[in-house]
Formats: sequence, C-alpha cells, structure tokens
Amino acid sequence: TLHKKNILKKMLEIIEPKYLNLLRLLGIYGAELNFPVYVVGGFVRDLLLGKKNYDIDIVIEGDGLKYAKYVSKYLRTTFVEHKEFHTGSLFFKDGFRIDIATARVEYYEKPADLPKVEISTIKKDLYRRDFSINAMAIKLNPEEFGVLFDFFGCQNDLENGIIRILYNLSFIEDPTRILRAIRFERRFNFKIEERTLELMKEAINNNYIEKVTGMRLREELEKILSEKNVIDSIIEMGELSIFDHLFWHSKYKKEKVERFKKILKFKKWFENKCNIKNKKIKDFHIFLYSYLACENGEAAIYATERYGLPKKFINNLNRLNIIIEKFKTLPFKWKNSDFYNILGDIDDELKIVISGFLTSKEMEEKYIKYLKAISNLELKITGKDIIKKGISGKKVGEILEYIKIKKLDGEIQDEKEFLERLVISNE
Ligand code: CTP
Repeated sequence: TLHKKNILKKMLEIIEPKYLNLLRLLGIYGAELNFPVYVVGGFVRDLLLGKKNYDIDIVIEGDGLKYAKYVSKYLRTTFVEHKEFHTGSLFFKDGFRIDIATARVEYYEKPADLPKVEISTIKKDLYRRDFSINAMAIKLNPEEFGVLFDFFGCQNDLENGIIRILYNLSFIEDPTRILRAIRFERRFNFKIEERTLELMKEAINNNYIEKVTGMRLREELEKILSEKNVIDSIIEMGELSIFDHLFWHSKYKKEKVERFKKILKFKKWFENKCNIKNKKIKDFHIFLYSYLACENGEAAIYATERYGLPKKFINNLNRLNIIIEKFKTLPFKWKNSDFYNILGDIDDELKIVISGFLTSKEMEEKYIKYLKAISNLELKITGKDIIKKGISGKKVGEILEYIKIKKLDGEIQDEKEFLERLVISNE
C-alpha cells in the first residue's frame, strides 16, 4: 500500500535554499531525460525527523549512468562511475558529493500477448534496503516535486521509534545491518522491533558476521565509535555476543566496557590539556588496544589480519601488555621518571590507552602530572653542548637522557649549569 504525501512544506522549512534548488534541478534534469528521480534513504529519514542531512542519495528509475553524465555536464561536476553497480558519484569543486544509483525499469511479460507492464522499481529498490526508517523516497521531478513515497509503513515506524527490517533475509544478505541496527537504535533512542531482533540474533549466532569482509565491518564499527552513545552501543553489542564474532580468540567482558569508558574520558582531557590535535589518533585503534590488551597473541593476530591494522599494532599491543604487567608488580613511588622509564616514547594512542590500566587513584593523578611534564619538557641544551665539553660517542646520548630524567623529576632548574657541574665532577 503506497502512502503518497506531499511534504514540500517540510522541505521548505528544513532544507537550506541552496540545497533545495539543487534538488529541484536534479528533478528537472530527470524530466528532460524522461526518468523519474528520487532522493532516498537517510536524507528522507532525517528530514522527517526535522534534521538537516546533506548526504544526497539519488535513485533513478531508468538509466542512472546516463542521467549522472547528463547532470554532471550541466552542474560542472566530476563524475566517478562505479560501472558494475550501475551507480556513480558527482563531485563538486568544494568536495560536496551526490550519489546516483539506478533502479532499473523492469518489464514483465504477461501471458496471451497482453502489453508488457512496467512495475515501479523504486519500490523494489526501497524494499531491498536495511530498515523501514531508511526506505522512503521523495520524488524530485517538477510535476511531483516533494511527494513522499512510503510503501511499507515507514513513517509509522519513524514516528513510533521502531527499527524494523523489511524482509526476513535482510541480515543474512547483509550482516553489516546487525551493527547498523544498533547504531540507529542508539542514535535516535529507538527500539529494535521484536521479530527484527530475533532474526538479528539468529544471524549473529549462525556466524553471519564472519561472512562479511573485515573492511566493511571496520567501517561500521568506526561509525559506531563516532556516535555519541558509543558506550551503550558497545554494551548492547557485548550482550548480543557480537564482539565474540568480530574478535575471535578473546571474550567480551563487562569490565572491558568500563575501561573503554574511562579511556574515552581521558582522551578528551588529553586532547584538550596537552593541546594535541593529532589526526593519527583513531578511536578504532584505541578501542582495539583497550579491548585486546591482556588477551593472547592469537586474538591480536586475528584482529590485525581481519581489519587491516598497521604493522605497529601488534608491537604496540605487546608493549602495552608489558607496561600493564610492570604497573601491577613494581612498587614505585611514581615519580615522573618512573613513568618515563617504563613507557619510553610511546605514541599518543598508547598514552591514552594507558589511562585505562592505572591501578589506583594516586597513580592516575601522578600519570596526569607526568604527561603534563613530558609535553612541556624543553631542554635548553642539545647534544652539541655536550660535545663542546669534549665528550663524544655513546656518552653524549646517555648524558642527555640523564639530564632529561632529572629535569622531569624537577631536580634540575638550570640544565646548562647542571652540565657544567657534571663535567667538572667527572674530570
Ligand atoms: N543501506 C542499506 N544497507 C546497508 C547500508 C545502507 O540498505 N548496509 C541504505 C539505507 O537506505 C541507507 C542508505 O543506503 O539509508 C545510505 O546509507 P548510509 O549513508 O550508510 O546511511 P544513512 O542512512 O545515510 O546513515 P547516516 O546518517 O549514518 O549517514
């Protein structure tokens, strides 16, 4: 049952003129080629929720590639074609992008030489999508500009906050939807519908997650990690045993979530206070370090191979494990130099992850103090100053390191003077 409804008023209210005009143009070009044009998916969902979203996914009933080339010529965009999927992307000079896909028109032969019938393929296209909330389309051709196409009671689900698959094999055909269901549920504070949840559990327990490429799973995981309610999502994933299917040879434990929560909080502090805007800090890496720490080597190898992690990942993980052991066993007073001696020159991601493995409140405070000290540490002497004193070889580095440690612990105020005294006492 098709529910058609004009939502132009809503569009005028939410969509900025610049984008609304673009949508109008996209419809006009469709009319010129005699193709029905729709904007679909997340854009429509968010519009109905009253949210701006300028991820424009277009579906053409007809020849999407022909349409895309035509549009690209008039909009002066760069067209990138993905031939095998009958899709393509238009890139504007400022990087803005429109995705265009084809819903091919299909003709069904009727018996007894009756005329061929054309069936609405936008419906089929929408039916194959992940959830009802993402399966609506708005027509853009001028005569029907702003008409919402809702074939499956999608608006109802959106209003009632329900995540529902459209057909029973949905999770089997695309198991990444297991992760997407959780992401949308938490983002919008919706509920996964009962039958959908049942089929989801079935797909998980029948090892369908294992059938997806690591790359696609990684993308979905990264998206979950970039959402606001990440901790709730992780708890739910754990309870559904999703992690045990994502990361073999390790077991989900509630305490891993607690630890990651602590680490995320620390990360915020770290980026602000230490003034670090390091694009290399990836939540995905931080999560994996924290999740796989203290697990056996097999777990690390599995994750590295499956999710295309950099070589340094395993080294870092080993290093982290050694650090954690030392934290447990050594009765330090936790001077800055104690941290320095154990941690050495670890990278920023590890510095953040370490915060989840400190064993007391006191140690946490001292660790923060250490990080501040090391990030502000500026030696007023270099190797050259030491060489000038007639010292050479390995000794130079050792002295520099010695001075660095003393300075970290606040035992040196003036390193030039300290070097002077050091040289005299050595002579
Ligand atoms: N889609 C799908 N199955 C997937 C991924 C995507 O059916 N595994 C469909 C959905 O209709 C979705 C659209 O493709 O709305 C676009 O996908 P994507 O951009 O990943 O998601 P959005 O819904 O736009 O979500 P977000 O707001 O997170 O971008």
